[in-house]
Amino acid sequence: MRMRTEQGEARVTEGHDSPGVQVDVHVQPGDARRALRAEVLEGLCHGPKELSPKWLYDERGSQLFDDITRLPEYYPTRREREILRAHADDVARLSGADTLVELGSGTSEKTRLLLDAMDAAGQLKRFVPFDVSEAFLRKAAQGLAREYPRIAVHAVVGDFEQHLGRIPGGGRRLVAFLGGTIGNLKPAQRALFLRELASGLKPGDGLLLGTDLIKDRERLFAAYNDSAGVTADFNRNVLRVLNRELNADFDPEAFEHLAPFDETNKWIEMRLISRKAQSVWLKDLERRVEFAQGECLRTEVSCKFCREQVQAELSDAGLDLAAWWTDADGDFALSLAMKR
Ligand code: AVJ
Repeated sequence: MRMRTEQGEARVTEGHDSPGVQVDVHVQPGDARRALRAEVLEGLCHGPKELSPKWLYDERGSQLFDDITRLPEYYPTRREREILRAHADDVARLSGADTLVELGSGTSEKTRLLLDAMDAAGQLKRFVPFDVSEAFLRKAAQGLAREYPRIAVHAVVGDFEQHLGRIPGGGRRLVAFLGGTIGNLKPAQRALFLRELASGLKPGDGLLLGTDLIKDRERLFAAYNDSAGVTADFNRNVLRVLNRELNADFDPEAFEHLAPFDETNKWIEMRLISRKAQSVWLKDLERRVEFAQGECLRTEVSCKFCREQVQAELSDAGLDLAAWWTDADGDFALSLAMKR
C-alpha cells in the first residue's frame, strides 16, 4: 500500500502477522539496478576505474563478508564487540536514549548488546533498523520484534546516503553506525553524511560510531589480504554482480586482489588488478570496457582514524564527543557523540 507520511511518500506496511512492526520503504525495486548502471557508466567507462563498495553486498557477498568477520586476521568485528560488551551500559546511561536507530545490519549480536543494555536501564521504547535491503530488513525486524515484545520496531528501508531524513522522529534517539562502515566514505562524502545525519537530530540525541584505528601496517594489511583468500573472493564477487545485473562477461579469475594501505589518505584501498590486457562486454549497456595488463579497478576504500580526527569531524558536523572507548590493544574505537 502507498501512503503519505509526514516526510513524503513511502510504502508503509504494517504486517498483520507481526504486531508492533512497521516497515517504511523508500527504495523502489528497480532503484539499485538503475544506480548500478549509472555508476558503471561513470566509474568504468572512462578515467581511473572505480566502483562504490555497496555493490559488493549481494547475497553471496554478504555471506563472504560474514566469513571475513571470523577470519583470524580480521580484527575489527571482534574488537568492536569486545568494546560493546564492556561499555553497552555506559552507552545506555550516557545517551539516555529510548530509541535505538541502527544504520545497516540489525540482526547482529552487537544490536542485542545495545538493546539489552537500554532495556536493563528501563529506557527502551523503540528500535529503528535502517537498511537498504528490504527482504533482509523485514526478516530482521520481525525477529527482533519477537525477541523484544515490549518495544515498537519501526524499520526503514533506505540508502544512508539519501534517506537519512526519513528516520522517524520522537523520543530521545541514539543512532548507531557500527562496524567501521563510515570508513567506506571518503572525507568529503563523510562530512556530508555526518552533517546530514546531525541535521536530523535534536539536542540530546546521540551518535554511536565505530571506527577502525590506524595501527601497525602489517596488521592492517593482513586484515584485508587474508591468507585464506576470503577477502579476495569477496572483492572478485563484485564482478559476478556485474555479470548478473548487467549481462557482462567478466572472468573474475582474470583479476588479482590487492588491498594496500594508502599512507597519504590513511585508507585501505581494495583493488582488482587485471592480470592481462582484456576487454569485457557489458551487454545491457552496449559498452565494451578495456583493461590494460596491471590496470586497477578500485572497489572500496576503508579509512582508518585517530581520536583527534574523529573528534574533529564529529565536531564539524555539530556533534560533541561525549565518550571514546577502545579495546585493550587500541585497535578499534567506539565514539559516543551528542548533538550540540
Ligand atoms: C564492512 C566496510 C566495515 O571496511 O573493513 C572487509 C568491509 N572490506 N574487508 C571494512 C571489508 C574488506 C568492511 N566494512
